[in-house]
Amino acid sequence: MAGSSGASVQLVNLMVAPEAVADKRASLNAKKQVVLDEVAVSDVYQLGIGAFSPLTGFMSERDYLSVVESMRLESGSIWSIPVALPVSEEQAKDIHLDDEIALVRPDGVICAAMRVEHMYRPNLEHEAEMVYRTKEDAHPGVRRVYERGSVYLGGSVQVFADERIDEFSNHFYTPQQVRAAFAERGWKTIVGFQTRNPVHRAHEYIQKVALETVDGLYLNPLVGPTKADDVPADVRLRAYKAILEHYYPQNRVFFGVYKAAMRYAGPREAVMHALVRRNFGCTHFIVGRDHAGVGNYYGTYDAQRIFDHFDFAELGITPLFFEHSFYCKRCGGMATPKTCPHGDEDHVILSGTKVRQMLREGIAPPPEFSRPEVVKVLMEYYSKQA
Ligand code: ADX
Repeated sequence: MAGSSGASVQLVNLMVAPEAVADKRASLNAKKQVVLDEVAVSDVYQLGIGAFSPLTGFMSERDYLSVVESMRLESGSIWSIPVALPVSEEQAKDIHLDDEIALVRPDGVICAAMRVEHMYRPNLEHEAEMVYRTKEDAHPGVRRVYERGSVYLGGSVQVFADERIDEFSNHFYTPQQVRAAFAERGWKTIVGFQTRNPVHRAHEYIQKVALETVDGLYLNPLVGPTKADDVPADVRLRAYKAILEHYYPQNRVFFGVYKAAMRYAGPREAVMHALVRRNFGCTHFIVGRDHAGVGNYYGTYDAQRIFDHFDFAELGITPLFFEHSFYCKRCGGMATPKTCPHGDEDHVILSGTKVRQMLREGIAPPPEFSRPEVVKVLMEYYSKQA
């Protein structure tokens, strides 16, 4: 299948070189320290490894405004979601332009140095309206925008490697490493898949339909900050391992975690998700039903329509669109409205809310909805929550 090659995009690397780490850390101890929230921590690390290429730090006001208004950086490069560093008015009092500051994780470890090149007061409601298509603070992404801080800092960052070891460490790769892994396998066309959920049959179906026409699948679940009622990432990791072991050909799938925060910005986030997977070396990216949506804020296919604004060659990755997929009892298999003539009564469709309710009540979702191996992992977790 033809597609734009992600490999042509120049990757940014903002990691402090190993030989410079000790000196850099020592110099930062005396500097003003800003404690980050988990979202900012995840942004710092994504910036560092180049997942957010071409960003070289937190956004200037001009980039921010340009992104909010027109989904492009000042340079003209496509970028759909602001990535700035919000601080409170109180914190901002002690920070001055051109300061070098230490960015500190909630656990007290300095994770990066930042040169404060820009300080500005964004219009948060306007940001919400433009990026999230709503000003309502009931939207989890918008609420976070309102709560995080009213002064934005922009400037270049130098990032220390994340030294924390956890269950995700063995499944974490930088864009450079992922590109190398694809090259090693001889894959020329790779479809990326974003999810913040366990892989259910609908996910599996659209991945495999895509995989029929490309060389490899990059299963790249987001494991950074999500909202409280999403299935926790460590539980999902167990579920991913189970489904990969039993239902996926090992030589056609590359599994790695994406440690970014979920924004729930629907269409705008679909574009960002595609750009990031381009950076990881994918040539194609799956956008299905209500990608990165939450509640009823977005139309079912809004996250596909937004790609009409872009030329795929410029984007550097080709989106693959899928309609709402489900198991059809009469077809005896997975299908979508595009391929199945039967009515809703024949379709096994369960909302995320319904599935969580079933799991909490100890009821297993049917195998037409989710593989038994996945259900087992989820039921173990939810039985302890009850
Ligand atoms: S999210 O990160 O996009 O919020 P989610 O797990 O809900 O994660 O979806 C992952 C991808 O699968 C998205 O592209 C989404 O549009 C697609 N998707 C999820 N469920 C379905 C479905 N039933 N039919 C078609 N596409 C789906």
